[in-house]
Amino acid sequence: MELIDAMRSQNTCRFYLPDDVPDQVLYRAFDNARFAPQGGNRQPVRFLVVRDQRLKRELADLYMIPWSAYVEATAKKHAIRVDDEFGTEKATWVGGNAERVMRNGDHFARHLADHPVIIVVCADIDQTHPTDTQLGRLSVGGGASIYPIVQNLCLALRDQGIGTALTTLLCAYEKEVKKLLSIPDELSTVAHVVAGYPARPFPTKLSRRPVEEFVFVDDFDKPLRCS
Ligand SMILES: Cc1cc2nc3c(=O)[nH]c(=O)nc-3n(C[C@H](O)[C@H](O)[C@H](O)COP(=O)(O)O)c2cc1C
Repeated sequence: MELIDAMRSQNTCRFYLPDDVPDQVLYRAFDNARFAPQGGNRQPVRFLVVRDQRLKRELADLYMIPWSAYVEATAKKHAIRVDDEFGTEKATWVGGNAERVMRNGDHFARHLADHPVIIVVCADIDQTHPTDTQLGRLSVGGGASIYPIVQNLCLALRDQGIGTALTTLLCAYEKEVKKLLSIPDELSTVAHVVAGYPARPFPTKLSRRPVEEFVFVDDFDKPLRCS
């Protein structure tokens, strides 16, 4: 498909068909994704494709811990009412857009083990060479050697009609995930990408700020405009 179309419609897919994603499809996506840039061409990222039902179940159970905490905090913030049946199939939400996002996210979470593939993204952080570690704030520079290939992967899967959801909630449970999947010591878990054939059509429009609101020329008083 057209690159621009893929970029503009690659959403967080939270509803999947049960159909398997063939190895050839995954291989083709990784084969295209690998050309992403990373500092010094050190290529610090490794991927573990999890298909095994027992392993996915364990990952899903772990995911529910931070997800439930996130739901509780978000429900409070947006004054969303979560009824007593939350966490069950009968859960209902009352609210606006936040409600829709949370309801979809909740469905995604409770069906995590049923989604066809969970790709655990790992990275050798020592090989990322961050340049912002001495600034007295959170260092994020290392991520620049990690996430371009992850986004490439999502786009390369989108090209083949596969939906994805990039998640990081489970990263807080790195210790448990590493043990479960026997991930080598030198690797950290930096994201989890769920992938599968989408049960709903890809969106035609994603909700994002217009360019004028986040791109500026020379100073932050001058938005970039298309005249
Ligand atoms: C760094 C990052 C972490 C995310 N983590 C989660 C997550 O743990 N669970 C989840 O359901 N969605 C997660 N998302 C998806 C976002 O919630 C989603 O991109 C956002 O709501 C916009 O929705 P859209 O991508 O469908 O337009 C994450 C996205 C990013 C970029």
